[in-house]
Parts: sequence; structure tokens; C-alpha cells
Amino acid sequence: MKTIFSGIQPSGTITLGNYIGAMKQFVELQNEYNCFFCIVDQHAITVPQDPQVLRKNIRSLAALYIAVGIDPEKATLFIQSEVPAHAQAGWLMQCISYIGELERMTQFKDKSAGKEAVSASLLTYPPLMAADILLYNTDLVPVGEDQKQHLELTRDLAERFNKKYGEVLTIPDISLPKVGARIMSLQEPTKKMSKSDPNKKAFITPLDDLKQIEKKIKSAVTDSEGIVKFDKENKPGISNLLSIYSILDGKSISEIEEMYSGKGYGEFKGDLAQVVINVIKPIQERYNQLIESKELDDILDRGAEKANKIASETLNRMENAMGLGRGQRR
Ligand code: TYM
Repeated sequence: MKTIFSGIQPSGTITLGNYIGAMKQFVELQNEYNCFFCIVDQHAITVPQDPQVLRKNIRSLAALYIAVGIDPEKATLFIQSEVPAHAQAGWLMQCISYIGELERMTQFKDKSAGKEAVSASLLTYPPLMAADILLYNTDLVPVGEDQKQHLELTRDLAERFNKKYGEVLTIPDISLPKVGARIMSLQEPTKKMSKSDPNKKAFITPLDDLKQIEKKIKSAVTDSEGIVKFDKENKPGISNLLSIYSILDGKSISEIEEMYSGKGYGEFKGDLAQVVINVIKPIQERYNQLIESKELDDILDRGAEKANKIASETLNRMENAMGLGRGQRR
């Protein structure tokens, strides 16, 4: 069985973008693959975090993974910092990375632009992400479009490692969703929907109050044409809403266009709000049962144990290939 690895940062509550671009895929893939899903808390601390808030966000993300449908009997769910091999292998990957290639990462450029004090870890974040993936001999990484460049670097680093030290690492492929690889902001539909957007109306989270979700969709920025039609170039707002509708409801974009031909945006948005709420309501119910439960801790304990076994085995092979490790000394 082929192996999948993916991770989400616990930096604030996930958005509908994370759900559509990543989590929804995970739920579908867990039946066919050996899956590892990670709460990448060490990535989250590359920017300042309040420890208490971070602790809450880590737990909340864990509960959300289960609430959206990840089955801990099928997939391994764990917290990155509970598996020390990630930081250790991250260091090894840093040692084979070049500063120039890290400085070319668009996320690094975006996150560091105009800032006076930028942590070194913001630059060395992609080698850690490569380590996350490579430790599990991963074949496939399902992510949204914004992670594509990091995935290409991961492949480059794995190939470089193998060339230098022997065939130790599996070269992973990237898996982007066909629709919804890039869900856009509800307020500025040419920008990615992001949990760090200061305008809360720009994104929906699965933990938003249902009334709030309806309001956010109804106030989403569109255009003045009044025709529900997919046209990314000229109608980015409506196109984004059509994508969300199609992915969550299962109807094709053209079917939805047909349904709303001759009708206004008001009716379309009202129905879309209902589609989103129908998906989110059961997620919230399951989340509320889980968030304080011991069941959640047990799942995470079992996940860390399982992940530790595989990750430390790969780390050992990596270290040995590089001339490090106890096995080499004797
Ligand atoms: P993060 O936490 O920013 O996002 C988690 C996942 O959600 C996807 N995503 C989106 N998809 C569609 N539309 C959007 N608007 C949108 N916003 C986010 C992301 O592409 C991602 O798949 N570096 C990663 C976390 C990470 C990781 C890994 C991922 C660390 N190690 C190993 C895969 C494998 C990140 O910051 O994702």
C-alpha cells in the first residue's frame, strides 16, 4: 500500500480553504493509502505564538481532523513535536539545503517582506517540511497549490541526498485537488483565503457560528453583472463561490450555472450559505463531543507512538548514510 503524508499548521483556526484544499482530500484518500496526518506545531513557531493560544490551537486542530472524518483506525494522526525525529531530520535536510534556494521560496519572501526581525526558522522552514515528508517514505503528498514550490524543493533535496549518500529516501509526488486547490478570499477574491487575514469577513472557519457563515457569504465581494457564470479572469468572486458550491455539493460548475440562470446573486449566495452550513454543522457537533475528551488524547498518544517508530527508523538510515549515529561507531 502506498503512503501519504500531509500536515497543517495549528496557527489559528483552519479555514474553508484548508478544508477544501487539504482535509477533504485526506478523508477520501485514507481508504486507499497508508496515511500520516500531522499537526505541524514546529512549523507554527516560525512566527511568534502565544504559548497558551498555541496549545489550544493544537488540540483544536486535532479535534477538527477527526471531526471532518479522519478515522484514527485507518490513518495515523499525530503532533509533530511529539516525534523528535522531525527536528533531527530537519537539521540533516538543512545541511544539504542552499541559502539561495531557500531565499527563493515565495512564502519566505511574502512572510519576511518589510519585516525587520525575521526568525532564521522562517528561512529553514522548507527543509523541515521536507523532513516531515521523507521520514515516512512517502509516495504522495496531498496539498493545496500554495505548497507546490515547497514540494518541488522536497523532491530536489531528496534527490540530492540520494545522489550524495546512496538510495535512502523515497521521492514523493504531489497531489493537488482538481478543483479547489486555491480557495480565494471572500473580500479580495484575487488573494488566497488565509487564516492570518486581518479581515475576518474574508474567510470562513469550520468553527464559525452558523449565522456568521451566512453573513460572510452574503457579503462576499462579487461584481455588478448579475450573471452566475464561471470566469476566473473577469469574475473572480463569483468563480470562487461557484468552486466552493461545486466541491461541497458535488454538482458540476455547469450544472450550478444552469440552476441559477436568470436568477440573481442574492438567491445563489443564500443557497450557497445553506450548502456550506450543511457541511459544517455535523463537523461542529462532532468537534464539540471530542474537544475535551480523553478519547482525543488517546488517539494522539497512539499516533505519536506509531509515527515515532517509522520516523526514527528512517532517521537512523539517514544518519548512518551520512556517517553519523551510534550504529556507525562500533
Ligand atoms: P498550511 O497550514 O498553511 O495549510 C494546510 C493545507 O491547506 C492548504 N491551503 C489551501 N488550499 C486551498 N485554498 C486555500 N486558500 C488554502 N490555504 C491553505 C495548503 O496548501 C495545505 O495543504 N507548510 C504547510 C504545512 C506542512 C506540510 C508538511 C504540508 C508542514 N509540513 C508536510 C504537507 C506535507 C503549511 O503551511 O500549510
